[in-house]
Amino acid sequence: MIYGNTDVKGFMVESHKECDELLAELERAVEAKSEARGEIFVKFYDELLRHFSSEEIVLFPALNEFAAKHRLPLRVMEMEHEKMRVLAAKLEGLLDDKDGFFSLSETLMVMLQQHNIKEESQVYSAVNELLGEEGSYVISQLRAVY
Ligand SMILES: [Fe+2]
Ligand SMILES: [Fe+2]
Repeated sequence: MIYGNTDVKGFMVESHKECDELLAELERAVEAKSEARGEIFVKFYDELLRHFSSEEIVLFPALNEFAAKHRLPLRVMEMEHEKMRVLAAKLEGLLDDKDGFFSLSETLMVMLQQHNIKEESQVYSAVNELLGEEGSYVISQLRAVY
């Protein structure tokens, strides 16, 4: 086979799951006042920032020529990333303050879930079809960000 994996949607959906799981793990660690909570925060924050960057640097620009024609809400997705980056960064200062932490982490979790649902149904659903065999090249670029 000349082209490798072209399932960009599958690749990105896996990354959504990874971010969700790391946020849930962080919530459990803060709830239990685990010694590892600082380390888990860094893992979650890194994964989230890398995911957003991979979209902003690689995926969305690759879709640009199709974005207007297919009404892909890329600009809205980017604005939501910005809001979530701010919220996620604030969590670090709240690792010892359960009430403060959970009021923010619940907000972030809801925003992230709604963002991911929108993205998967309105952006990723079109991705494999629009990119076709170019998908394998886009995946190699996505991996480079990770
Ligand atoms: Fe996104
Ligand atoms: Fe995403």
